Amino acid sequence: MLVLYNVVYLKMHLPNFLLMSALLLIADGFTVKGPSGPLVVPLGGSVLLPCSVDSLSSLEGLEVEWKRSDSQTLIHLYQDGDIRPDSQHEDYHDRAHFFTENIKQGNFSLLMKNVRQEDKGQYTCTVHSGQETGETVVEIKDVERLIVSGSDQSLSVYVGEDVTLNCSVDSHIPPEHIEEVSWKKRVKDEHITVLLYQNNETFPDSSDEQYRDRVEFFIDEIHRGNFSLRLKRVRTEDKGLYMCHVFAGRFSDNTTIVLQQMGFSSLHIMVLILCITACGSALLVCCLIYCRNNTGFRVEDFYFVSKGNLMVLPCFIDPQSQTEGLKIKWRRSGLKGPVCVY
Ligand SMILES: *[C@@H]1O[C@H](CO)[C@@H](O)[C@H](O)[C@H]1NC(C)=O
Ligand SMILES: *[C@@H]1O[C@H](CO)[C@@H](O)[C@H](O)[C@H]1NC(C)=O
Ligand SMILES: *[C@@H]1O[C@H](CO)[C@@H](O)[C@H](O)[C@H]1NC(C)=O
Repeated sequence: MLVLYNVVYLKMHLPNFLLMSALLLIADGFTVKGPSGPLVVPLGGSVLLPCSVDSLSSLEGLEVEWKRSDSQTLIHLYQDGDIRPDSQHEDYHDRAHFFTENIKQGNFSLLMKNVRQEDKGQYTCTVHSGQETGETVVEIKDVERLIVSGSDQSLSVYVGEDVTLNCSVDSHIPPEHIEEVSWKKRVKDEHITVLLYQNNETFPDSSDEQYRDRVEFFIDEIHRGNFSLRLKRVRTEDKGLYMCHVFAGRFSDNTTIVLQQMGFSSLHIMVLILCITACGSALLVCCLIYCRNNTGFRVEDFYFVSKGNLMVLPCFIDPQSQTEGLKIKWRRSGLKGPVCVY
């Protein structure tokens, strides 16, 4: 319209021009100005979504509507000389501030406070005044943030097992532009390096001696911002506080996790139980053999025999035993003298 304006101006006399521009205004509405480019806001910060007109002939019938362009969610409505908070979506209560006092200057900017990640997107400011209508689109291109999170506060692990310490990064900065991720462990008041990643590279040599060859990142997960640490063959001295610290641009954040030990794993315990049972069984078998060798037959043996029949009462020792000076005595309980002596 501006181009047309200039061309028309050059070619026409003033009265004709005025008539022409009046017609154009009625037909096309007026120009609503927005920001000069997309906006970038820090998470939790405030941002002014600009929307204004150069001249406003009258406030009568003025209506200003702020909406999300994609979902058409109503963020703010000014209608019939007043703001209409009841028609506003609840996500924006207390977060969207409209400067009623600036309306007279044709300024309909909206201040968005406590910006959330979901606020990223496009917003439309539509202005109706009498017969005129115009709109502008404001874009929040990025919500700047670096949030480092783990999944647990503490983790129990058995000696000898492997464990994964979680650390994931949520940021507007893509993982390949993260400058540093370091896993450290607190030992007394110091921090020792467990594993270091800098500018797209892992530096296993910078790990403290006790962690060499026992720690690694999940290489395929790094492009997703997953910097979880795999710690292999856990030792008793591994227990303690671990920290995953991430630096990107002017942002940094960290997460911590406490590694606790449980002593022995279920596998260890099973092996132990098996050992004890095996030893016990072996002992029992030995004992039985020993008893048999000494008494010949077990006292709890019973024999049923018909009257007048022949009966053999079994009694034996290991055939390899020494028989020199062997003495055998059969006795019946309750009777004084032996039944038979060899
Ligand atoms: C509109 O009002 C806001 C809030 O007072 C101010 O920051 C902004 O500069 C104004 N915009 C224009 C174009 O005057
Ligand atoms: C990591 O590599 C990508 C390309 O593969 C590059 O664009 C980026 O700058 C590198 N990041 C750092 C921090 O060096
Ligand atoms: C990161 O990767 C590890 C290994 O694949 C996985 O166990 C963990 O759940 C991942 N974390 C997230 C947040 O996806």
